[in-house]
Amino acid sequence: KEIYLNGFNGQQPIIPISNKALEQAAQKRISKKAFAYIAGGAGVESTVKRNIEAFERHAILPRMLRNVGERSTTISLFGKQRASPFLLSPVGVLEMVNAEADLAVARAAASVGVPYIFSNQASFPMESCAAEMKHAAHWFQLYWSKSKDLVASFVQRAEKCGCEAIVVTLDTTMLGWRTRDLELAYLPFLEGKGIAQYTSDPVFQQLMDETTAANTKRRITVQTLKGLIQLVNNYPGTGFFKKLKSGRPLKAVQTFTSSYTNPYTTWEDLQFLKTLTKLPIILKGIQHPDDAQKAIDYGMDGIIVSNHGGRQVDGSVSTLEMLPAIAKVVQKRIPVLLDSGIRGGADAFKALALGADAVCLGRPYVYALALAGEEGVRQLLLNYRADFELTMALSGCKSVAEINADTLLNA
Ligand code: FNR
Repeated sequence: KEIYLNGFNGQQPIIPISNKALEQAAQKRISKKAFAYIAGGAGVESTVKRNIEAFERHAILPRMLRNVGERSTTISLFGKQRASPFLLSPVGVLEMVNAEADLAVARAAASVGVPYIFSNQASFPMESCAAEMKHAAHWFQLYWSKSKDLVASFVQRAEKCGCEAIVVTLDTTMLGWRTRDLELAYLPFLEGKGIAQYTSDPVFQQLMDETTAANTKRRITVQTLKGLIQLVNNYPGTGFFKKLKSGRPLKAVQTFTSSYTNPYTTWEDLQFLKTLTKLPIILKGIQHPDDAQKAIDYGMDGIIVSNHGGRQVDGSVSTLEMLPAIAKVVQKRIPVLLDSGIRGGADAFKALALGADAVCLGRPYVYALALAGEEGVRQLLLNYRADFELTMALSGCKSVAEINADTLLNA
């Protein structure tokens, strides 16, 4: 309404409106490696494509004359009112596209009341981001570490800086086969990027001190993290990485990588997290209805249906196609969120119609950040909200509660 009533003042929008144009503009602005890392997916990227196509397979069936003069996009999530059904997914290593990275996103999200999920691989410590957001909603995303002490420390810090939920990402116990990054021999972590949650953590410092004790009292620095060797062990046969393995900071690096994620984690381990915090625990990366049921059985408070934007298992299902079966199992007992492929208001509408309680944005806000920093992200969020509100109203829905399977042709 603001846009149409106030006019454009002859000005171009600060970020392109269409997702395609946004992506193309961002590509021109950022390095080849950064774009590959952000846009890329696993393997031949069939799941990246499938995520998008899943939305195209559903069509909204608008209804007329339903008095949509007064309408509301608010939702209730974990007992709190939210202005719209959008959240920001955790995205690591944002310093690749903007020096203010997570801080800029935090400010933008706070200014429009969109909850922001801080990444475990953020470029700034969660405390700094939380300070930018004040009382605006923020959550923390955790990668399950091999060090229980580190997990406890992260969770404690998250509680202390006012995070309202802990999101545990399950789909990345190791990095997927990221073709574009492999071709460029690129991993941002190798440049010491995306490790601020670690370098700001006392338990992690201790782990590093113990490992590097033999090497005088040298504390871990970004420089020493430069060769995250174990990570690259996931990429057998790439000679470039083998060379990096022989670097001097090997021990420190091994400490980081041996505590980074834990592929041995099972459902039983979630109990430990329950003992650490009373905050809602949300599992990110659920794709099978049976896993959704398990999340409930193990006392989890919510799930995010996600395949990490097709970055992990190439050839796997899209999130939207699994949503109806998952929603059926969950029966509204816990909130079901969804990401991977949301590119506009209509996509959010379709996800809600098929059973999601809210949706999370990923790549699009990274492109907006790359192009116009905080203001770019803010504009993107306003655009998504406006697009969603128009879709809702023009389809005959006054509220999010009215968006159900009947609003789609082929639900
Ligand atoms: C991610 N994602 C992600 N997820 C997570 O739990 N922790 C993280 O640190 C990251 N980092 C990250 C970096 C980049 C560059 C991308 C593109 C994605 C996954 C993210 O939270 C979300 O699931 C996807 O981005 C959703 O897919 P779309 O909508 O971006 O295609």
